[in-house]
Amino acid sequence: MTQPPTSHPRLLAWIDEVAALTTPDRIVWCDGSEAEWTRLTDELVETGALVRLDDRKKPNSFWARTDPSDVARVEERTFICSADEADAGPTNNWMAPAEMKQLMTGLYKGCMTGRTMYVVPFCMGPLDAAEPMFGVELTDSPYVVASMRIMTRMGAEVLKVMGDDADFVPALHSIGAPLSPGEEDVAWPCNETKYISHFPETREIWSFGSGYGGNSLLGKKCFALRIASVAARDEGWLAEHMLIMKVTSPEGVVRYIAGAFPSACGKTNLAMLDPTLDGWKVETIGDDIAWMRFGSDGRLWATNPEFGLFGVAPGTDFHTNPNAMRTLAKGNSVFTNVALTDDGDIWWEGMGEPPAHLTDWKGQDWTPDSDAVSSHPNSRFCTPIEQCPILADEYHDPRGVPIDAILFGGRRKTTVPLVSEARDWVHGVYLGATLSSETTAAAVGQVGVVRRDPMAMLPFIGYHAGDYFQHWIDMAKGASGDAAKLPKVFYVNWFRRGDQGQFLWPGFGENSRVLKWVCERLDGKADAVETPIGHVPTPEALDLTGLDIDPADLAAALRVDTEEWQAEIPQVTEWFNRFGDKLPAVLWAELDALKARLADA
Ligand code: GTP
Ligand code: MN
Ligand code: MN
Repeated sequence: MTQPPTSHPRLLAWIDEVAALTTPDRIVWCDGSEAEWTRLTDELVETGALVRLDDRKKPNSFWARTDPSDVARVEERTFICSADEADAGPTNNWMAPAEMKQLMTGLYKGCMTGRTMYVVPFCMGPLDAAEPMFGVELTDSPYVVASMRIMTRMGAEVLKVMGDDADFVPALHSIGAPLSPGEEDVAWPCNETKYISHFPETREIWSFGSGYGGNSLLGKKCFALRIASVAARDEGWLAEHMLIMKVTSPEGVVRYIAGAFPSACGKTNLAMLDPTLDGWKVETIGDDIAWMRFGSDGRLWATNPEFGLFGVAPGTDFHTNPNAMRTLAKGNSVFTNVALTDDGDIWWEGMGEPPAHLTDWKGQDWTPDSDAVSSHPNSRFCTPIEQCPILADEYHDPRGVPIDAILFGGRRKTTVPLVSEARDWVHGVYLGATLSSETTAAAVGQVGVVRRDPMAMLPFIGYHAGDYFQHWIDMAKGASGDAAKLPKVFYVNWFRRGDQGQFLWPGFGENSRVLKWVCERLDGKADAVETPIGHVPTPEALDLTGLDIDPADLAAALRVDTEEWQAEIPQVTEWFNRFGDKLPAVLWAELDALKARLADA
């Protein structure tokens, strides 16, 4: 090994320890340079792990295919290893830290043999933040290194700011596929056995067996959500699965809106929305993760800790998300599990007419007559956020932006109206705590099953969900005791369906009409009717200028059906019962009040 580019004692000691355990052939310190990117991607092309796209189509961009078994987050294999099982709560898998470490130490023994161990120093959020949040990932996957260079601020600059004593989250990752001498490698090595483990007390991450982004890019879900949510609980802030957007009205009024929707339920699309309403402007700050801290003004200020976009590919095109397409056209991206065109570009379902021939995500020939889809439903683009043409200047500001409204939303065919507004903060927390959505391909498992996904954080809360609800309720104290300074809470559903299975609301750019109503509610202007579940716009209160929508569909999209909501009550009761004593009493009171309102309706 060459001389390490740091003298940080704790970092060096940890690297020595991991190297002794995992026995890589060599150790490479990543500097984050362009030259390093070129070297890595060249190597990956050489081994067949990446295919270079045509420079005229997507400059400096690559196509990757995973092992068909390694395509999504593995929630069943994800563990919160708190010292006390009670701290992990009923929504997480738990194993005692010592037991998990022993088990995984066995797996890690010699697991990097024949491979390179890369040292990836990274920072979540701007490097000039008051307290930069550092992590160091050790990984034997060059695909992970290339992706981390897109998704985080990483490399030599980070090490420099870390100095000799900065705190950091140690994040160990191995694909778990050692190579014996002379053994030929495969394009996507991984291990059938997978563990994604978090040690909240010691703020450590151990990941084994998977190369898929959500399991392997450890700055993202593992650090910025699971570990950060624990830090946030301890320190009085929030680490959330939320987009952050800036909305400017034709009159020039600026509003900052955060939105929590479960995986593959529309955050990236909303964050980059191209408004169909004249004069309205949307700018992107973040599409997946928000860290929200109180400012001295008692308001919640949000930053996006990430540096790239790791977005769902299928469904993305110039009609649905033109700004994502413009971002991708600039290149410098990695596309995973999409289809490859014969002329060296990428294609996926939803991107207009399919070409006559493709190579699908499994490497097979594909034609429009093929039965299977060409791209995995959870195929992803990984691209620098700075390429987004509507990135707000505020993205770079370490103080973030003051949030005016929080949108909770899920994917529900029935019941949940297009938009409603919470009565107050605690009611808003109730809406978040009972948020429900149909499962998607973003996690391994059955798709389309309704489950509760509180604040869209079910797979990401690093501690007991009951304590998490209490923490949300307690935010009212953080706002200098002035709950009026907290964001207003709204609940949206772009996915309600009609009798023929059609979406009742056109969604995408047309969601600007809902955003306008939200902004006008913040100004105290727009009309709403009070319903048992909150304030819902009258059809006239939504600006429908230029929109061709069947009034019956619109009415159905906005409808609050007492019977449908009554049918939710047993499910919510069962959900709340899971938390026992840890369920804040005020949430039971909210449920009782809802029951009473529904009974009167
Ligand atoms: P993660 O990145 O996994 O956290 O998901 P996400 O919340 O960013 O989801 P994304 O924006 O990528 O959307 C996922 C899917 O929902 C895509 O197939 C979109 O086409 C679809 N989608 C997004 N917005 C809308 C909408 O307004 N209406 C409809 N019908 N579909 C939408
Ligand atoms: Mn996500
Ligand atoms: Mn997304």
